[in-house]
Amino acid sequence: MKPSDFPRDAKFHDPTTPPFRDDEGVHHIFSYADVMSVLMNRDEAFSRDPAPWLPGTGPVHMAFDFMWMIEPFTLDGEAGRHDPLRRVVEPWFKLRAVGTMEPIIRDIMVQGINDVVAKGTGEVNVATELCSRLSMRVICRLTGIEFEREQWMREKLDEFNQATWDNCPPQWDVQAYFWQLIAKRLARPQDELLDILVQAWTEGAIDDHELIGYLYGFSAAGTDTTGASLANTFTYLAEFDLLDYARSIQGDEEAVGMLIEEILRFGTPFPMKPLYVCKDSQFGDLKVPAESVLGVWFAAANRDEAVNGGDADGADPNLFDPKRSPNKHIALGRGKHYCLGKDLAKLEMKILLEESLRRLPELQMDATKPFRRYGGIVDSVTDAHFTFDQEQAERIKAGEREPTPVA
Ligand code: HEM
Repeated sequence: MKPSDFPRDAKFHDPTTPPFRDDEGVHHIFSYADVMSVLMNRDEAFSRDPAPWLPGTGPVHMAFDFMWMIEPFTLDGEAGRHDPLRRVVEPWFKLRAVGTMEPIIRDIMVQGINDVVAKGTGEVNVATELCSRLSMRVICRLTGIEFEREQWMREKLDEFNQATWDNCPPQWDVQAYFWQLIAKRLARPQDELLDILVQAWTEGAIDDHELIGYLYGFSAAGTDTTGASLANTFTYLAEFDLLDYARSIQGDEEAVGMLIEEILRFGTPFPMKPLYVCKDSQFGDLKVPAESVLGVWFAAANRDEAVNGGDADGADPNLFDPKRSPNKHIALGRGKHYCLGKDLAKLEMKILLEESLRRLPELQMDATKPFRRYGGIVDSVTDAHFTFDQEQAERIKAGEREPTPVA
Protein backbone atom coordinates (compact mmCIF):
# COMPACT_ATOMS: atom_id res chain seq x y z
CA MET A 1 0.00 0.00 0.00
CA LYS A 2 1.21 3.53 -0.83
CA PRO A 3 0.37 6.55 1.35
CA SER A 4 -1.76 7.97 -1.47
CA ASP A 5 -3.85 4.78 -1.89
CA PHE A 6 -7.49 5.28 -0.97
CA PRO A 7 -8.48 2.57 1.56
CA ARG A 8 -11.86 1.71 0.00
CA ASP A 9 -13.52 1.44 -3.41
CA ALA A 10 -12.32 4.12 -5.87
CA LYS A 11 -15.88 5.30 -6.61
CA PHE A 12 -15.99 6.95 -3.17
CA HIS A 13 -13.03 9.08 -4.23
CA ASP A 14 -14.51 10.22 -7.52
CA PRO A 15 -16.61 13.40 -7.72
CA THR A 16 -18.17 12.20 -11.00
CA THR A 17 -19.69 9.06 -9.42
CA PRO A 18 -23.46 9.52 -9.81
CA PRO A 19 -25.37 9.70 -6.52
CA PHE A 20 -26.59 6.20 -5.60
CA ARG A 21 -28.33 4.11 -2.94
CA ASP A 22 -26.36 1.12 -1.64
CA ASP A 23 -27.64 -2.34 -0.67
CA GLU A 24 -28.12 -1.26 2.95
CA GLY A 25 -30.29 1.68 1.91
CA VAL A 26 -27.66 4.39 2.53
CA HIS A 27 -27.55 7.13 -0.12
CA HIS A 28 -24.21 8.62 -1.23
CA ILE A 29 -23.24 11.92 -2.88
CA PHE A 30 -19.86 12.92 -4.30
CA SER A 31 -19.69 16.16 -6.29
CA TYR A 32 -18.45 19.39 -4.73
CA ALA A 33 -21.74 21.15 -5.56
CA ASP A 34 -23.88 18.42 -3.95
CA VAL A 35 -21.69 18.14 -0.85
CA MET A 36 -21.55 21.92 -0.37
CA SER A 37 -25.33 22.24 -0.72
CA VAL A 38 -25.79 19.71 2.11
CA LEU A 39 -23.15 21.34 4.32
CA MET A 40 -24.77 24.75 3.93
CA ASN A 41 -28.13 23.05 4.75
CA ARG A 42 -30.16 26.19 4.03
CA ASP A 43 -33.55 24.53 4.35
CA GLU A 44 -32.58 22.33 7.32
CA ALA A 45 -33.15 19.15 5.34
CA PHE A 46 -30.24 17.23 6.96
CA SER A 47 -29.32 16.65 10.59
CA ARG A 48 -26.42 15.31 12.67
CA ASP A 49 -28.85 14.48 15.51
CA PRO A 50 -28.19 10.81 16.40
CA ALA A 51 -31.59 10.34 18.12
CA PRO A 52 -33.05 8.12 15.36
CA TRP A 53 -30.25 5.58 15.97
CA LEU A 54 -30.04 5.67 19.76
CA PRO A 55 -31.98 3.29 22.02
CA GLY A 56 -35.10 5.05 23.30
CA THR A 57 -34.23 4.43 26.97
CA GLY A 58 -31.15 4.26 29.19
CA PRO A 59 -28.08 6.44 29.52
CA VAL A 60 -26.73 8.16 26.45
CA HIS A 61 -22.98 8.42 25.82
CA MET A 62 -21.53 11.88 26.55
CA ALA A 63 -20.24 12.19 22.96
CA PHE A 64 -23.82 12.78 21.86
CA ASP A 65 -24.01 15.98 23.90
CA PHE A 66 -21.18 17.58 21.92
CA MET A 67 -21.89 20.29 19.37
CA TRP A 68 -21.02 18.27 16.28
CA MET A 69 -23.98 15.97 17.01
CA ILE A 70 -26.31 18.87 17.68
CA GLU A 71 -28.01 21.20 15.21
CA PRO A 72 -29.43 24.71 15.47
CA PHE A 73 -32.83 22.97 15.07
CA THR A 74 -34.26 19.77 16.58
CA LEU A 75 -36.00 16.98 14.70
CA ASP A 76 -39.24 18.20 16.31
CA GLY A 77 -38.82 21.63 14.73
CA GLU A 78 -37.72 23.40 17.93
CA ALA A 79 -34.65 25.64 18.33
CA GLY A 80 -31.54 23.47 18.86
CA ARG A 81 -28.52 24.06 21.10
CA HIS A 82 -25.73 24.06 18.52
CA ASP A 83 -25.14 27.79 18.22
CA PRO A 84 -25.12 28.57 21.97
CA LEU A 85 -22.77 25.62 22.57
CA ARG A 86 -20.39 26.80 19.85
CA ARG A 87 -20.50 30.39 21.13
CA VAL A 88 -19.13 29.32 24.53
CA VAL A 89 -15.80 28.17 23.06
CA GLU A 90 -15.52 29.85 19.65
CA PRO A 91 -13.82 33.04 20.94
CA TRP A 92 -11.07 30.94 22.58
CA PHE A 93 -10.48 28.98 19.37
CA LYS A 94 -10.50 32.11 17.21
CA LEU A 95 -8.52 34.47 19.40
CA ARG A 96 -6.39 32.46 21.79
CA ALA A 97 -5.84 28.90 20.59
CA VAL A 98 -2.84 29.57 18.36
CA GLY A 99 -1.04 31.98 20.71
CA THR A 100 -1.63 29.84 23.80
CA MET A 101 -0.85 26.49 22.23
CA GLU A 102 2.12 27.39 19.99
CA PRO A 103 4.86 27.00 22.65
CA ILE A 104 3.12 23.97 24.17
CA ILE A 105 2.83 22.18 20.81
CA ARG A 106 6.48 22.94 20.06
CA ASP A 107 7.66 21.53 23.38
CA ILE A 108 5.55 18.38 23.01
CA MET A 109 6.96 17.92 19.51
CA VAL A 110 10.58 18.44 20.57
CA GLN A 111 10.17 16.06 23.52
CA GLY A 112 8.78 13.45 21.11
CA ILE A 113 11.71 13.87 18.71
CA ASN A 114 14.21 13.74 21.58
CA ASP A 115 12.70 10.45 22.76
CA VAL A 116 13.06 9.09 19.22
CA VAL A 117 16.70 10.20 19.02
CA ALA A 118 17.39 8.76 22.48
CA LYS A 119 16.53 5.28 21.15
CA GLY A 120 19.76 5.48 19.16
CA THR A 121 18.46 3.48 16.18
CA GLY A 122 18.03 6.17 13.51
CA GLU A 123 14.55 4.74 12.93
CA VAL A 124 11.07 6.01 13.72
CA ASN A 125 7.50 4.94 13.09
CA VAL A 126 6.27 8.51 12.67
CA ALA A 127 2.59 7.47 12.91
CA THR A 128 2.81 6.14 16.47
CA GLU A 129 5.93 7.78 17.91
CA LEU A 130 5.36 11.33 16.72
CA CYS A 131 1.97 11.95 15.10
CA SER A 132 -0.67 10.28 17.25
CA ARG A 133 1.34 11.19 20.36
CA LEU A 134 1.42 14.88 19.40
CA SER A 135 -2.28 15.06 18.53
CA MET A 136 -3.30 13.25 21.74
CA ARG A 137 -1.09 15.33 24.03
CA VAL A 138 -2.33 18.58 22.50
CA ILE A 139 -5.90 17.53 23.28
CA CYS A 140 -4.85 16.57 26.81
CA ARG A 141 -3.43 20.05 27.33
CA LEU A 142 -6.51 21.62 25.81
CA THR A 143 -8.98 19.76 28.03
CA GLY A 144 -6.91 19.43 31.21
CA ILE A 145 -6.57 15.63 30.87
CA GLU A 146 -3.34 14.57 32.61
CA PHE A 147 -0.61 12.99 30.47
CA GLU A 148 -0.65 9.85 32.68
CA ARG A 149 -4.15 9.29 31.33
CA GLU A 150 -3.07 9.62 27.68
CA GLN A 151 -3.02 5.89 26.88
CA TRP A 152 -6.15 5.19 28.91
CA MET A 153 -8.03 7.95 27.09
CA ARG A 154 -6.78 6.61 23.75
CA GLU A 155 -8.24 3.19 24.63
CA LYS A 156 -11.55 4.75 25.66
CA LEU A 157 -11.79 6.62 22.36
CA ASP A 158 -11.06 3.39 20.47
CA GLU A 159 -13.74 1.57 22.47
CA PHE A 160 -16.26 4.27 21.54
CA ASN A 161 -15.22 4.28 17.86
CA GLN A 162 -15.62 0.52 17.62
CA ALA A 163 -19.06 0.40 19.29
CA THR A 164 -22.31 0.82 17.41
CA TRP A 165 -24.41 3.75 18.52
CA ASP A 166 -27.22 1.60 19.87
CA ASN A 167 -24.92 -0.43 22.19
CA CYS A 168 -22.35 2.17 23.14
CA PRO A 169 -20.99 1.69 26.70
CA PRO A 170 -21.66 4.85 28.74
CA GLN A 171 -18.02 4.88 29.94
CA TRP A 172 -18.87 5.87 33.52
CA ASP A 173 -15.17 5.76 34.43
CA VAL A 174 -14.43 8.50 31.90
CA GLN A 175 -17.33 10.55 33.15
CA ALA A 176 -16.14 10.14 36.76
CA TYR A 177 -12.62 11.18 35.76
CA PHE A 178 -13.92 14.28 33.96
CA TRP A 179 -15.84 15.33 37.09
CA GLN A 180 -12.64 15.00 39.11
CA LEU A 181 -10.87 17.28 36.63
CA ILE A 182 -13.70 19.79 36.91
CA ALA A 183 -13.64 19.66 40.72
CA LYS A 184 -9.88 20.29 40.72
CA ARG A 185 -10.30 23.21 38.36
CA LEU A 186 -13.03 24.72 40.51
CA ALA A 187 -10.64 24.55 43.47
CA ARG A 188 -7.65 25.90 41.52
CA PRO A 189 -8.80 28.01 38.57
CA GLN A 190 -6.40 28.70 35.71
CA ASP A 191 -6.80 30.62 32.50
CA GLU A 192 -7.43 27.80 30.04
CA LEU A 193 -10.20 26.41 27.84
CA LEU A 194 -11.42 24.15 30.68
CA ASP A 195 -11.92 27.22 32.87
CA ILE A 196 -14.12 28.81 30.20
CA LEU A 197 -16.28 25.67 30.18
CA VAL A 198 -16.44 25.47 33.97
CA GLN A 199 -17.41 29.12 34.16
CA ALA A 200 -20.18 28.69 31.56
CA TRP A 201 -21.45 25.76 33.64
CA THR A 202 -21.39 27.59 36.98
CA GLU A 203 -23.27 30.47 35.33
CA GLY A 204 -25.91 28.04 34.05
CA ALA A 205 -25.19 28.65 30.35
CA ILE A 206 -24.53 24.91 29.84
CA ASP A 207 -25.80 21.90 31.78
CA ASP A 208 -23.96 18.91 33.33
CA HIS A 209 -24.25 16.75 30.21
CA GLU A 210 -23.05 19.51 27.95
CA LEU A 211 -20.05 20.23 30.18
CA ILE A 212 -18.64 16.72 29.98
CA GLY A 213 -19.81 16.44 26.37
CA TYR A 214 -17.26 19.12 25.47
CA LEU A 215 -14.41 17.25 27.16
CA TYR A 216 -15.17 14.00 25.38
CA GLY A 217 -16.09 15.72 22.13
CA PHE A 218 -12.84 17.66 21.82
CA SER A 219 -10.92 14.46 22.54
CA ALA A 220 -12.80 12.63 19.78
CA ALA A 221 -12.75 15.49 17.26
CA GLY A 222 -9.12 16.53 17.57
CA THR A 223 -7.02 13.37 17.93
CA ASP A 224 -7.46 10.87 15.07
CA THR A 225 -8.16 13.56 12.46
CA THR A 226 -5.05 15.51 13.38
CA GLY A 227 -2.92 12.39 13.90
CA ALA A 228 -3.81 11.25 10.36
CA SER A 229 -3.02 14.70 8.91
CA LEU A 230 0.35 14.74 10.65
CA ALA A 231 1.21 11.27 9.33
CA ASN A 232 0.04 12.31 5.86
CA THR A 233 2.42 15.25 6.06
CA PHE A 234 5.47 12.98 6.32
CA THR A 235 4.28 10.26 4.01
CA TYR A 236 3.01 12.36 1.08
CA LEU A 237 6.22 14.41 1.09
CA ALA A 238 8.19 11.16 0.95
CA GLU A 239 6.00 9.49 -1.69
CA PHE A 240 6.05 12.53 -4.00
CA ASP A 241 9.74 13.22 -3.45
CA LEU A 242 9.04 16.58 -1.83
CA LEU A 243 11.00 16.36 1.43
CA ASP A 244 13.75 18.59 0.00
CA TYR A 245 11.10 21.00 -1.28
CA ALA A 246 9.58 21.11 2.23
CA ARG A 247 13.04 21.81 3.71
CA SER A 248 13.60 24.60 1.18
CA ILE A 249 10.40 26.51 2.05
CA GLN A 250 10.84 26.52 5.83
CA GLY A 251 10.34 30.11 7.01
CA ASP A 252 8.16 30.99 4.00
CA GLU A 253 4.73 31.16 5.69
CA GLU A 254 2.79 31.37 2.44
CA ALA A 255 4.47 28.38 0.80
CA VAL A 256 4.17 26.27 3.98
CA GLY A 257 0.51 27.29 4.27
CA MET A 258 -0.21 26.14 0.71
CA LEU A 259 1.56 22.84 1.34
CA ILE A 260 -0.51 22.22 4.47
CA GLU A 261 -3.80 22.99 2.68
CA GLU A 262 -2.86 20.51 -0.05
CA ILE A 263 -2.03 17.78 2.47
CA LEU A 264 -5.46 18.30 4.04
CA ARG A 265 -7.23 18.28 0.67
CA PHE A 266 -5.39 15.34 -0.83
CA GLY A 267 -5.71 13.11 2.24
CA THR A 268 -9.12 14.29 3.53
CA PRO A 269 -8.65 12.42 6.86
CA PHE A 270 -12.37 12.55 7.66
CA PRO A 271 -13.64 11.16 4.36
CA MET A 272 -17.40 10.95 4.85
CA LYS A 273 -20.09 12.30 7.13
CA PRO A 274 -23.34 10.34 7.51
CA LEU A 275 -26.39 12.58 7.99
CA TYR A 276 -30.02 11.95 8.83
CA VAL A 277 -32.38 13.14 6.10
CA CYS A 278 -35.21 15.23 7.57
CA LYS A 279 -36.96 16.21 4.31
CA ASP A 280 -37.40 14.47 0.96
CA SER A 281 -34.45 15.51 -1.21
CA GLN A 282 -33.07 14.86 -4.68
CA PHE A 283 -29.54 14.73 -6.13
CA GLY A 284 -29.49 14.30 -9.92
CA ASP A 285 -31.79 11.37 -10.64
CA LEU A 286 -31.59 10.01 -7.09
CA LYS A 287 -34.52 10.62 -4.80
CA VAL A 288 -33.51 10.60 -1.13
CA PRO A 289 -36.55 10.19 1.12
CA ALA A 290 -36.94 11.68 4.58
CA GLU A 291 -35.77 9.37 7.43
CA SER A 292 -33.02 7.82 5.34
CA VAL A 293 -29.23 8.19 5.72
CA LEU A 294 -27.06 10.26 3.40
CA GLY A 295 -23.29 9.71 3.12
CA VAL A 296 -21.63 13.01 2.25
CA TRP A 297 -18.23 12.28 0.68
CA PHE A 298 -15.73 15.05 1.46
CA ALA A 299 -13.02 12.79 0.01
CA ALA A 300 -14.63 12.81 -3.45
CA ALA A 301 -15.68 16.47 -3.42
CA ASN A 302 -12.06 17.41 -2.72
CA ARG A 303 -11.11 15.83 -6.07
CA ASP A 304 -13.65 17.95 -7.97
CA GLU A 305 -12.40 20.56 -10.45
CA ALA A 306 -14.33 23.05 -8.30
CA VAL A 307 -11.58 22.96 -5.65
CA ASN A 308 -9.55 25.02 -8.10
CA GLY A 309 -12.32 27.59 -8.18
CA GLY A 310 -12.93 26.84 -11.88
CA ASP A 311 -9.39 27.96 -12.74
CA ALA A 312 -8.67 26.38 -16.13
CA ASP A 313 -4.90 26.42 -15.41
CA GLY A 314 -5.27 24.83 -11.99
CA ALA A 315 -3.56 21.50 -11.41
CA ASP A 316 -5.55 18.28 -11.87
CA PRO A 317 -7.26 17.64 -8.48
CA ASN A 318 -6.08 14.02 -8.62
CA LEU A 319 -2.47 15.23 -8.40
CA PHE A 320 -0.67 16.33 -5.26
CA ASP A 321 0.35 19.93 -5.98
CA PRO A 322 2.09 21.65 -3.03
CA LYS A 323 1.55 25.04 -4.70
CA ARG A 324 -2.16 24.57 -5.50
CA SER A 325 -3.92 27.91 -5.56
CA PRO A 326 -6.78 28.49 -5.22
CA ASN A 327 -7.46 25.45 -3.06
CA LYS A 328 -11.09 25.47 -1.93
CA HIS A 329 -11.00 22.10 -0.19
CA ILE A 330 -13.61 21.10 2.37
CA ALA A 331 -11.54 18.64 4.40
CA LEU A 332 -12.45 20.68 7.48
CA GLY A 333 -16.14 20.87 6.59
CA ARG A 334 -18.07 24.08 5.92
CA GLY A 335 -21.18 25.88 7.15
CA LYS A 336 -22.42 25.81 10.75
CA HIS A 337 -20.17 22.87 11.70
CA TYR A 338 -16.98 24.23 10.09
CA CYS A 339 -14.12 22.70 12.09
CA LEU A 340 -13.47 24.68 15.24
CA GLY A 341 -9.95 23.26 15.67
CA LYS A 342 -8.77 24.04 12.14
CA ASP A 343 -6.14 26.63 13.11
CA LEU A 344 -4.82 24.38 15.83
CA ALA A 345 -4.55 21.39 13.47
CA LYS A 346 -2.69 23.48 10.87
CA LEU A 347 -0.38 24.82 13.57
CA GLU A 348 0.46 21.25 14.62
CA MET A 349 1.29 20.39 11.01
CA LYS A 350 3.49 23.48 10.64
CA ILE A 351 5.42 22.80 13.86
CA LEU A 352 5.80 19.13 12.98
CA LEU A 353 7.44 20.15 9.70
CA GLU A 354 9.68 22.78 11.26
CA GLU A 355 10.96 20.67 14.10
CA SER A 356 11.26 17.28 12.46
CA LEU A 357 12.91 18.47 9.25
CA ARG A 358 15.48 20.35 11.31
CA ARG A 359 16.09 17.83 14.08
CA LEU A 360 15.93 14.61 12.07
CA PRO A 361 18.43 15.20 9.23
CA GLU A 362 18.20 12.97 6.16
CA LEU A 363 14.69 11.94 7.16
CA GLN A 364 13.38 9.54 4.54
CA MET A 365 10.78 6.84 4.25
CA ASP A 366 11.98 3.29 4.86
CA ALA A 367 10.77 1.39 1.80
CA THR A 368 11.71 -1.96 3.37
CA LYS A 369 8.94 -1.69 5.94
CA PRO A 370 5.17 -1.65 5.33
CA PHE A 371 3.03 1.46 5.26
CA ARG A 372 -0.42 0.84 6.75
CA ARG A 373 -3.60 2.90 6.71
CA TYR A 374 -7.06 1.70 7.64
CA GLY A 375 -10.22 3.15 6.22
CA GLY A 376 -12.54 4.06 9.08
CA ILE A 377 -14.45 7.09 10.34
CA VAL A 378 -10.99 8.65 10.05
CA ASP A 379 -8.49 7.25 7.55
CA SER A 380 -5.76 6.80 10.15
CA VAL A 381 -2.16 5.75 9.53
CA THR A 382 -0.84 3.03 11.86
CA ASP A 383 2.59 2.32 10.34
CA ALA A 384 4.84 4.78 8.54
CA HIS A 385 8.52 3.94 9.03
CA PHE A 386 11.27 6.46 8.40
CA THR A 387 15.04 6.58 8.90
CA PHE A 388 17.29 9.54 9.72
CA ASP A 389 20.96 10.29 10.33
CA GLN A 390 21.32 9.28 13.99
CA GLU A 391 24.73 10.90 14.57
CA GLN A 392 23.71 14.27 13.19
CA ALA A 393 20.44 14.15 15.10
CA GLU A 394 22.36 13.51 18.33
CA ARG A 395 24.68 16.46 17.61
CA ILE A 396 21.67 18.75 17.05
CA LYS A 397 20.04 17.49 20.25
CA ALA A 398 23.26 18.02 22.23
CA GLY A 399 23.53 21.63 21.02
CA GLU A 400 19.95 22.51 21.92
CA ARG A 401 18.38 23.79 25.07
CA GLU A 402 16.23 21.01 26.53
CA PRO A 403 12.51 21.78 26.08
CA THR A 404 10.52 22.72 29.17
CA PRO A 405 8.77 19.48 30.15
CA VAL A 406 5.09 19.78 29.29
CA ALA A 407 2.93 18.12 31.93
C1 HEM B 1 -6.66 18.04 10.45
C2 HEM B 1 -7.39 17.75 11.51
C3 HEM B 1 -8.88 17.89 11.50
C4 HEM B 1 -9.78 17.57 10.52
C5 HEM B 1 -9.50 16.96 9.16
C6 HEM B 1 -11.10 17.93 11.02
C7 HEM B 1 -12.26 17.78 10.29
C8 HEM B 1 -13.49 18.26 10.71
C9 HEM B 1 -14.68 18.23 9.92
C10 HEM B 1 -14.80 17.67 8.51
C11 HEM B 1 -15.68 18.79 10.65
C12 HEM B 1 -17.11 19.01 10.22
C13 HEM B 1 -17.98 17.83 10.51
C14 HEM B 1 -19.42 18.05 10.13
O1 HEM B 1 -19.72 18.68 9.13
O2 HEM B 1 -20.28 17.55 10.85
C15 HEM B 1 -15.11 19.16 11.93
C16 HEM B 1 -15.81 19.73 12.96
C17 HEM B 1 -15.26 19.98 14.19
N1 HEM B 1 -13.94 19.88 14.56
FE1 HEM B 1 -12.43 19.28 13.39
N2 HEM B 1 -10.97 18.42 12.29
C18 HEM B 1 -9.63 18.43 12.62
C19 HEM B 1 -9.06 18.85 13.81
C20 HEM B 1 -9.77 19.32 14.89
C21 HEM B 1 -9.20 19.69 16.17
C22 HEM B 1 -7.70 19.68 16.51
C23 HEM B 1 -10.23 20.06 16.98
C24 HEM B 1 -10.26 20.56 18.41
C25 HEM B 1 -9.33 20.64 19.19
C26 HEM B 1 -11.45 19.94 16.19
C27 HEM B 1 -12.69 20.27 16.65
C28 HEM B 1 -13.83 20.25 15.88
C29 HEM B 1 -15.14 20.61 16.39
C30 HEM B 1 -15.45 21.09 17.79
C31 HEM B 1 -16.03 20.44 15.34
C32 HEM B 1 -17.53 20.66 15.39
C33 HEM B 1 -17.87 22.09 15.14
C34 HEM B 1 -19.38 22.32 15.18
O3 HEM B 1 -20.15 21.37 15.17
O4 HEM B 1 -19.77 23.49 15.23
N3 HEM B 1 -11.12 19.50 14.95
N4 HEM B 1 -13.76 18.85 11.93
